[in-house]
Amino acid sequence: MEIPALKSATNLRLSNILVRLLSFCVLVFLARFAYVVTVNSHSCDSLDSCFFPQTPKPSSAAAAAARRRAHYSSVFRDLLTEGLLSTNSASLCIETLDGAEVTALREIGIVNSFGISSQKLPYGEGIRYAKSINHPFGNQSFDFEFSGTAGLDRTPNPVRFALEVSRTLIPGGFFVAHTESLSDEYSLHSLLRLFDSFTLIKLREIKGFDSVPTREIILRKKNRTRNHVEIENRECSVPKHKLDLIKNAELLIEEEPLKPWITLKRNIKNVKYLSSMVDISFKNRYVYIDVGARSYGSSIGSWFKKQYPKQEKPFEIYAIEADSAFHDEYKKKKGVKLLPYAAWVKNESLFFEINREPNKKKNEEEKGRGMGRIQSVQSSSNFIGDVNKIEGFDFTAWLKSTVVERDYVVVKMDVEGTEFHLIPRLIESGAICLIDEMFIECHYNRWQRCCPGKRSPKYRKTYAQCLELFSSLRKRGVLVHQWW
Ligand SMILES: *[C@@H]1O[C@H](CO)[C@@H](O)[C@H](O)[C@H]1NC(C)=O
Ligand SMILES: *[C@@H]1O[C@H](CO)[C@@H](O)[C@H](O)[C@H]1NC(C)=O
Ligand SMILES: *[C@@H]1O[C@H](CO)[C@@H](O)[C@H](O)[C@H]1NC(C)=O
Repeated sequence: MEIPALKSATNLRLSNILVRLLSFCVLVFLARFAYVVTVNSHSCDSLDSCFFPQTPKPSSAAAAAARRRAHYSSVFRDLLTEGLLSTNSASLCIETLDGAEVTALREIGIVNSFGISSQKLPYGEGIRYAKSINHPFGNQSFDFEFSGTAGLDRTPNPVRFALEVSRTLIPGGFFVAHTESLSDEYSLHSLLRLFDSFTLIKLREIKGFDSVPTREIILRKKNRTRNHVEIENRECSVPKHKLDLIKNAELLIEEEPLKPWITLKRNIKNVKYLSSMVDISFKNRYVYIDVGARSYGSSIGSWFKKQYPKQEKPFEIYAIEADSAFHDEYKKKKGVKLLPYAAWVKNESLFFEINREPNKKKNEEEKGRGMGRIQSVQSSSNFIGDVNKIEGFDFTAWLKSTVVERDYVVVKMDVEGTEFHLIPRLIESGAICLIDEMFIECHYNRWQRCCPGKRSPKYRKTYAQCLELFSSLRKRGVLVHQWW
């Protein structure tokens, strides 16, 4: 409670009353204190909890603000000692909660300090209401920028966040962020991709505010910044952190299963999802592509929506399905983009085998739909069977035009043998590096459930060739899982 300054003589009487009132309050308070201490002393952990039973301390907000200021003061003093800051620095605190960072900077002598906040609240000195993706400052205005955990960790658009930092910082300037992420190599790499005009100076564990485990990352803006154009690298490199992840993934099933319809289906329980191993923050977009999606319920609805760990990220979903029998259903599904094509190596018409057998009942026929092999028009002259003409499209070209490496991309592929054309094409074009995690059903001459000792006549590839496909992807750092 604040007592307003009482200046005029007419207010004197009022102030006398106030003083008396206050004295009375203090008396009541003391009496209560004495009572509580004597009666409840056994159940009291501390004087505080006796004094203010079950009610928060009235000054807790102010106390927290003071603690925050002390915390940031010590953070910035360290940076000052390390030479990242100087008293001449123009500094900006992004998404400050209560201005504590700015106050702390000014208190230790960095007077040219400002803050922005997208909350309407604080408006202390030097703090402006602005979004972290749109600083109200000109290019190269600051030598130093800082983001506490309310900034980078919570921004809905880390790409634009990074671009703004890069824009308003001078070359050679420092950006320091506190984050609860960056606990694994994958998330560090994701972040460095966002800040690609910066070099990593340091990443260290610090004691965060209120002892929350926090990491401090220090980046320095390069003198010459690259253009933000994705460089097409055909032979994409195999980053070590991706290979390390694969070491932690479930093993591939080395031996050909005798009952593949059981073994492969059960294998989904062993799958080590990428998003269960690493932090997927700091990505541009989150994309799931279901190649050979068939009906909505077959994998998007039953598996991806329900089981894939998404870390609360909003995923865009693409369904690639050529069979028109499934198309109507997707019209009603909001949030799923249907591409009514067959994934292929170029844009061309294809023949699509529908596997219709005359004796089968209608519903079995429906179940068999979409299970057909595809082949190009040229090679289909001596193809016997029930075929439909469909449109194939260049999956690799589409992928390259749709996502970038900074996106988080998950692909499920069930394309009835076409994987042996698509995967090599993805690899040779470098597009494979756009994919973070893959689930592939590999089609081979598997043992059949119906007829013991007989292999499926439908596919010519062997289990060994499938295993080779999976291993070659894993060697390239692609986290691929065996789908059934
Ligand atoms: C400021 O920087 C951005 C890119 O960082 C650039 O597009 C823009 O033209 C620059 N503006 C001025 C006034 O130099
Ligand atoms: C970057 O530029 C500054 C001056 O503009 C210079 O002092 C510094 O040496 C340069 N750093 C590099 C790595 O070129
Ligand atoms: C191939 O087809 C896709 C889908 O219709 C289209 O977006 C793309 O532009 C086509 N590419 C070429 C080279 O025609």
